[in-house]
Amino acid sequence: MTTVRLNSADPVSFDTDALIVGFRSGPEGPRPATGAESLDAAFGGRLAASLTAIGFSGKPGELAKVPAFGALAAPLLVAVGLGDSADAEALRRAAGAAVRSLAGTARAALVLPTESAEAAEAVALGALLGAYGFSRYRTNGESKAPVGDLTVLSSDGSDEIAGRATVLAESVTLVRDLVNTPPSDLWPAKFAEIAEQRGGEAGLTVEVLDDKQLKDGGYGGLVGVGQGSVNPPRLVRLSYTHPEATKTLAFVGKGITFDSGGLSLKPSASMDWMKSDMGGAGAVLGALIGIARLAPQVNVVGYLCLAENLPSGTAQRPSDVIHSYSGKTVEVLDTDAEGRLVLMDGIARAAEDSPDLIVDVATLTGAQIVALGWRTAGVMANDDAVRELVVEVAGAAGEGAWGMPLPEELRKGLDSPIADIANLQPERWGSMLAAGIFLKEFVPDGVRWAHIDMAGPAFNKGEPHGYTPKGGTGAITRTLIGLAERHASI
Ligand code: BES
Ligand code: MN
Ligand code: ZN
Repeated sequence: MTTVRLNSADPVSFDTDALIVGFRSGPEGPRPATGAESLDAAFGGRLAASLTAIGFSGKPGELAKVPAFGALAAPLLVAVGLGDSADAEALRRAAGAAVRSLAGTARAALVLPTESAEAAEAVALGALLGAYGFSRYRTNGESKAPVGDLTVLSSDGSDEIAGRATVLAESVTLVRDLVNTPPSDLWPAKFAEIAEQRGGEAGLTVEVLDDKQLKDGGYGGLVGVGQGSVNPPRLVRLSYTHPEATKTLAFVGKGITFDSGGLSLKPSASMDWMKSDMGGAGAVLGALIGIARLAPQVNVVGYLCLAENLPSGTAQRPSDVIHSYSGKTVEVLDTDAEGRLVLMDGIARAAEDSPDLIVDVATLTGAQIVALGWRTAGVMANDDAVRELVVEVAGAAGEGAWGMPLPEELRKGLDSPIADIANLQPERWGSMLAAGIFLKEFVPDGVRWAHIDMAGPAFNKGEPHGYTPKGGTGAITRTLIGLAERHASI
């Protein structure tokens, strides 16, 4: 595991393997960012001009590696562009991209603008998130180990900042690891075991309902979705309490450890990445652990709705009617619309904790990707202020999110001829919103609720960017932690 420290040492003489240095872009070429002025001087004032000569302009995410030729204690200088933006996300991305490019290097130090505690935390966090690797399944030693030892060179060298960044990064790392783990090694009971172990270590109270308890308890959605697999479903409840809390939040995560579609089988091309369909439950687990470690003055409960969606002789059939935990009946027209079936039970159960706000997180619909692309989650809510708050908190964390409506007229598309509601509308258009409308039916009146559809953001099928690796991203984990901090009494 990579570590980060803050240190107020002089960058020129700092002993490290690579010095990462921030540059701004401007009309006269790259300029050293605040804090990096002495480095240009160490190169006789010629660093910026040399970078221009090799085509580096300082635009966001741009990288250039330059040998230090003895001008620094470090043998290598890595120039990273910040553009002209000064926001925290620009710092996280620049730090992440630079550290990612140094995989295989033991130590690195960062000289980026850290005039505020927020900026210093952003640099430390981006660096840690960029130092991610998942080599558990490699036997050929081909993959380079992430940088192990990071130092943020900053005049304000507080351990608390490094500590916070470490907690946030470790939460995200856990989620990325869970998402990247193949479904043969992560089935519902195994996920529940990891939640018990990791949650217990962090001081959370963890309760697990097994398949028999789910059946007896009337959790028809979890049971129905899970019944086609030899790996039965689980519902995990994690709870964090603060003695002086005045508010309670509930987070509910979709945890389909593999989504084949069930009898409404997916085509192969849409199936190979469905190990990521537990990203919502991952984010809830990662967030609860992070919250327990940061200890804000708020109570938080987290529910992991865990099932494996497979076809078999025992699988639920299109046209089956299931009895949800809320008491409502649901006609399952398409077994691939399974996320909403496990979430409806999780949401109804979470409401029993009398939370001030329920937030569910799910890789729920392909329509989210159609509407908003890979990096922007859709946020729906039964209250405008709640929706705006979630979008704002996600934005502050640098996790893309955008408010989406829940148009009432879509409800009639979910009418079932025989049950209270169907799990699917007959047409494709507006499917992300229809899924939100479906979930809203299971939120009791008077309870504030938001739904985050992160089908795209949970898993990066493309190339790495900024601090985001290929594969599991850990998306929305930090948004949930931010929501808990926003609801803290002080
Ligand atoms: N897990 C999928 C949604 C998904 C798609 C997540 C792509 C990540 C990437 C979900 O269970 C699903 O299959 N949704 C269907 C719903 C449809 C049958 C109403 C979809 O979006 O096609
Ligand atoms: Mn599905
Ligand atoms: Zn799914």
